[in-house]
Amino acid sequence: MRRLFVAGNWKMNLDGCRSHDLAEGLKKQLADVQDVRVAVFPPYVYLNCVANVLNKTPIEVGAQNMYPEPEGAYTGEVSGAMLTDVGCRCVILGHSERRHVIGETDEFINRKVHKALECGLEPVLCLGETLEQRRAGQMEKVVSGQLRAGLDGVSAGQMEKITVAYEPVWAIGTGETATPEQADQAHACLRNVLGEVYDEEVAEATIIQYGGSVKPDNAADLLSMPNVDGALVGGASLSVESFVPIVQAALN
Ligand code: PGA
Repeated sequence: MRRLFVAGNWKMNLDGCRSHDLAEGLKKQLADVQDVRVAVFPPYVYLNCVANVLNKTPIEVGAQNMYPEPEGAYTGEVSGAMLTDVGCRCVILGHSERRHVIGETDEFINRKVHKALECGLEPVLCLGETLEQRRAGQMEKVVSGQLRAGLDGVSAGQMEKITVAYEPVWAIGTGETATPEQADQAHACLRNVLGEVYDEEVAEATIIQYGGSVKPDNAADLLSMPNVDGALVGGASLSVESFVPIVQAALN
């Protein structure tokens, strides 16, 4: 049985005070959460504060990105070691906003995956097709390619540290959600690819989250699908009132 994983990607939202209060609120409401893995991904500058609040709770803290070099002249960038130093356990890599707004390539994301693993961080590797690609019938081709490229050189043994997040670009922040069937179909395709690249054991064990306008009112349906193992939540992760019910939907 795969243990469901619900993650909150705060993106470039909140301020110091609100980040602190949100972490405190989650700490109170989710103090005993065990059967579901929960993590939050605040902006870099609030990681330290949020990690301190959530220290010794079951809620993990992760970063939204990292740079694939250990140190040096990379102005404005943050290394994996810096992230573990401030209490991060995981890191989101290849989020669609980084692929499409910042221009990150599969190769660059793959370098980050390797560096994150080297630093002891657990990557959440994001991928997903655009609306044009879906309309052109290319969903499976696009997400399979992103998965293979993102995991290039990653061993079967390292796969237990990797979470995959399927996030169709057309569903992120748009209020439009993939139907549970659409999500399950994409996840099944990704699981097949994992079976081809690795083996059945890895394919069955890998957590594949769905992301894209997950809300309290659609979470239960999405999470009931056999291949949907959790959620990567953006907008609805910014308040206790909307994030906690999504975690509860995963518990049921
Ligand atoms: P959303 O974002 O829930 O606001 O659509 C999801 C994500 O980008 O991870």
